[in-house]
Amino acid sequence: MMFPTHDGPTENSPFHATIITVFPDMFPGPLGLSTTGRALGSVWSLDTVDLKNFVTGPFGRVDDSPFGGGAGMVLRPDVVGQALETGGGFQGRPCYYLSPRGQRFTQAHAVSLAKGSGVVLLCGRYEGLDQRVLDHYTITEISMGDYVLSGGEIAAMAMLDACLRLLPGVMGNQDSGTEESFSTPLLEYPHYTRPAEWKGMDVPKVLRSGHHAAIKAWRKEQAERITRDRRPDLWEIYTSGMPPDCFVKDE
Ligand SMILES: C[S@@+](CC[C@H](N)C(=O)[O-])C[C@H]1O[C@@H](n2cnc3c(N)ncnc32)[C@H](O)[C@@H]1O
Repeated sequence: MMFPTHDGPTENSPFHATIITVFPDMFPGPLGLSTTGRALGSVWSLDTVDLKNFVTGPFGRVDDSPFGGGAGMVLRPDVVGQALETGGGFQGRPCYYLSPRGQRFTQAHAVSLAKGSGVVLLCGRYEGLDQRVLDHYTITEISMGDYVLSGGEIAAMAMLDACLRLLPGVMGNQDSGTEESFSTPLLEYPHYTRPAEWKGMDVPKVLRSGHHAAIKAWRKEQAERITRDRRPDLWEIYTSGMPPDCFVKDE
C-alpha cells in the first residue's frame, strides 16, 4: 500500500481511521495531500478494508438483489459482517455507516471525534447495506447532507477531513479552528488579502487601520449580517442568547 497502515492507534499516531469499502484505492485520495497528508503516518494513520476480500465462493459477490424487489443491489450482510469482524476491529473506536438516512454530521461531531482515538467508517454503495448489519453491530448512520452520493467514500473523506484538521499538529495555526463557521452559531466574516486594490475594488479600510478593536467589531458585524441573511436557523440560535460556546459541544 502507498500509505502507512497500523493495527490501531499508537503513541506515534494517536488517531487511527479504518475505512471499509468496495473501493479501497480511493484512499487516502485528497487526505494524502496538504496538511492532512503531511500528518499522515505521524498524527494520524489509516487502513482500508476491501469488502471484495470477504466474498465467499468462486462466484461470490459483495452485493445481491433486494428481497421484495426494486431497483439496484444491496451489500450482503455476510460479506460486510465478516469484514467488520476480521478486517478492521473497532479497538474502542466508534463505527459509523455513511448514509443519507443518517443523523446530519456537524462540526460538533468533528470536535467530539477529534478528541478520541479514531473512527471506523463503513461506506455503502449501490442501494445501500442490508439492515441487519446495522442492527447487529449497533452502528450509527451518519449523513453528509440532504443529497444522494453514489457511495460513502467521498462522504467518509469529508467527515475524516473535518476531524483530522482539528487534531493537534495538523493545522499550522491551531487558533484558526476555534474562530471558524460552526464553532459558534455565527458564520465566518469575509477575508481579504493583497493586493489592497483589485479590479477596482478596495479592501475595507478598517482592516488596514491596525485598530484591533475596530477590526474585531467589523468582523462581528459582518458575521452577524451573513448569518442573518443566509441561515435563519443559526441566527435564531445566536439571538436566543445561548452562550457562545454552546454550539460546538461533545455529544
Ligand atoms: C446511491 S447511495 C444509496 C441511497 C439509498 N438508496 C437511499 O435512498 O437512501 C449509495 C451509498 O452512498 C452513500 N451515501 C449517499 N449519499 C450520502 C450522504 N448524503 N451522506 C453519507 N453517505 C451517503 C451511502 O453509503 C449509500 O449507501
